[in-house]
Amino acid sequence: MNILVVGGAGYIGSHMVKRLGQRGCAVTTLDDLSSGHRDAVLTGDFVHGDMADTALLRGVFARRKYDAVMHFASFIEVGESVRADDARRSVRIAAYQRLPLSMRR
Ligand SMILES: NC(=O)c1ccc[n+]([C@@H]2O[C@H](COP(=O)([O-])OP(=O)(O)OC[C@H]3O[C@@H](n4cnc5c(N)ncnc54)[C@H](O)[C@@H]3O)[C@@H](O)[C@H]2O)c1
Repeated sequence: MNILVVGGAGYIGSHMVKRLGQRGCAVTTLDDLSSGHRDAVLTGDFVHGDMADTALLRGVFARRKYDAVMHFASFIEVGESVRADDARRSVRIAAYQRLPLSMRR
């Protein structure tokens, strides 16, 4: 299976990438490394970028057909999302909406 892991360089995502690789899946990680680490991605392809970047997403989905997309690109602490000011929160919500829209195309 081909799996795209968004936020796969983070704490939770990197464990998922490792486990999927152990199970024989072809994994692609998309991560902007804002809080993740490239070295934490132990298997598969790596795409460096922001999931809010529509052109980047278009390229990712054009290059390979995915059986599943897993999304871990969020804040490690829920409280950080709650504290974020309205403008910052709107930007993140818009980014989260672009991922499923790009998957549909
Ligand atoms: N860490 C925990 O113990 C824990 C427990 C339960 C749930 N969660 C939830 O799991 C999710 C991930 O948490 P985590 O601990 O792995 O956080 P993390 O910060 O370690 O990982 C998030 C990853 O997403 C990437 N990222 C952030 N914004 C991005 C963007 N716009 N485009 C591309 N990549 C982006 C970061 O660079 C990072 O690699 C969160 O929703 C968190 O609330 C975490």
